[in-house]
Amino acid sequence: MILAKLYKIVYKILANLPFQTNHVHYLPSCHSTNEVARDLLQTEVTEGTVVITDNQFAGKGQAGNQWSSFPGKNLTFSLILRPTFLMPNEQFLITVILSLGIKDALEEILPGEVKIKWPNDIFFNNKKIAGLLIENVLRGNNFDSCVAGIGLNVNQTDFPDSIRATSIKLATNQEVDLNLMLNSLIASFSSLYFQLQDNKVKLLQQYHESLLGLGQERKFIVAEDEFKGIIEGTDEFGRLLIKRGSDILVFQHKEVQMLF
Ligand code: BTN
Repeated sequence: MILAKLYKIVYKILANLPFQTNHVHYLPSCHSTNEVARDLLQTEVTEGTVVITDNQFAGKGQAGNQWSSFPGKNLTFSLILRPTFLMPNEQFLITVILSLGIKDALEEILPGEVKIKWPNDIFFNNKKIAGLLIENVLRGNNFDSCVAGIGLNVNQTDFPDSIRATSIKLATNQEVDLNLMLNSLIASFSSLYFQLQDNKVKLLQQYHESLLGLGQERKFIVAEDEFKGIIEGTDEFGRLLIKRGSDILVFQHKEVQMLF
């Protein structure tokens, strides 16, 4: 309760965006905003609902990892989408627009280029600044809903040495208002989400151009095997294409890791 009082920040979506709602479901503290948002999907929750907390104590990362965030310092939230206009085999497009949305919003305030480390880690100066955990719900052959969990390092300045992490404050020396940053991200997501209806090719191209390591020789590891290769891009399903010698290798998420 004391933590809740100390860290209470007022979150409000200020602009009139084309989502069905601009409702913000604020929890001073919770285990995982993705879990809370998934529970809300059992109700009549509308597209555009944001679940946000200042103190996420069991945050979920990709591949079963944890996502840790210092209370009151960063953004930890989930956005509910209902992309029923997409086919299940187009799920990667959600990754595309959310990654680009974070990149666009960050490039407005960071002194340099933001990159997407395939498939959906956001990097600045070769360090991770944000991560996405996208959980889609399919019904038969149709897309039903999506819980897009976003963790963005904003004002935290200490990170364990074991992770290559940075934050907006480390990159700019400035404290950033969490509600303004949330608004900037949601505006960016909403603009790209509505472009998805008729601009898929352009968005895929933008994603491709933003990939960390694109066209450069990098080291990769697959199972125990380390090799050098060049990222050529992704295919329409979001699989990573790496050129190794004269071969093009195709990898699913989690099959390959880029080394630094
Ligand atoms: C990753 O890079 O491993 C994904 C990180 C995603 C973290 C966010 S924080 C808000 C939302 N709720 C969670 O439990 N996880 C996501």
